[in-house]
Amino acid sequence: MAQTSTPFDGAKAYKAWEVDGKYFGDGREVALLEHIYGHPLLHELRGNPQKVLAAIDVFAQTVTGLINIGDTKGTIVTHLIDEHKPATILELGGYIGYSAIMFGDAMRRNGGKQYYSVEKNPLFAAVASSLVDLAGLRDTVRVVVGTGSEGIQRLFDDGILQGKTQLGMLFFDHHKPSYTPDLKLAEHLGFVGAGTVLVADNMILPGNPPYAEWVRATTTDKQKMVGGTPKGEIFGSPNLEYKSRSVLSFEPSGMEDALEITECIGIDHSLITVGG
Ligand SMILES: C[S@@+](CC[C@H](N)C(=O)[O-])C[C@H]1O[C@@H](n2cnc3c(N)ncnc32)[C@H](O)[C@@H]1O
Repeated sequence: MAQTSTPFDGAKAYKAWEVDGKYFGDGREVALLEHIYGHPLLHELRGNPQKVLAAIDVFAQTVTGLINIGDTKGTIVTHLIDEHKPATILELGGYIGYSAIMFGDAMRRNGGKQYYSVEKNPLFAAVASSLVDLAGLRDTVRVVVGTGSEGIQRLFDDGILQGKTQLGMLFFDHHKPSYTPDLKLAEHLGFVGAGTVLVADNMILPGNPPYAEWVRATTTDKQKMVGGTPKGEIFGSPNLEYKSRSVLSFEPSGMEDALEITECIGIDHSLITVGG
């Protein structure tokens, strides 16, 4: 059943994303960087994640809308970080670094060590790195250029996230059809275990039925679901027990959306697992 979060504050609404048929990648990300580095109080932004986030919000409220998570949905995730205190967070879909700054700051405040932000677009990744640096989070947030699956595989192959180093949190905010295969790859490599919290954005806008089906299924149902997985395709770890809920919230423009918040509560050892 869906939970509802705090109401949307219309005074904080971002401008519409769509400008001449484009939603991102039309120069607005570089314009944001120039706007921030031209800020009359730039010295106050240095080393201050909250002020960098506020400056990004002002740009999106007054110049051009941005496709970041924004303050309303972002606050739900920072409360989760306060509650679960993850030591390591992996984000898929970093864009210009808004969520990496917000959640990296919350993770560091709670004693966490490392935030990995995977972003496919090298220009967006460069903007994110620059803003992360300005916010004083260079030692905490590492921006990785690549698709979600490339980033996950590279972090594994380089020995940075090894099988037994389970993630405290995994945040999905990238290519919607990639949420499920990328979660299954993370499960397969041992990144998900008891205590890992999965957070998926945009579960209404545009929605993600295959992801919701996987994280809400029982271990027995998942075992049946993986039976039809084509040969060579990774089918994840059906024996991970999940407890999942939908939390209604709002895009920074004010449109309704939801986060799917899933906790891994253990492993069902009664299942005979087959390698994927
Ligand atoms: C909604 S934005 C992320 C917003 C960001 N999490 C925030 O709240 O600040 C989605 C991002 O995912 C990136 N992306 C798209 N497909 C991807 C993929 N397969 N792997 C990684 N990133 C991808 C896009 O370039 C875009 O920057």
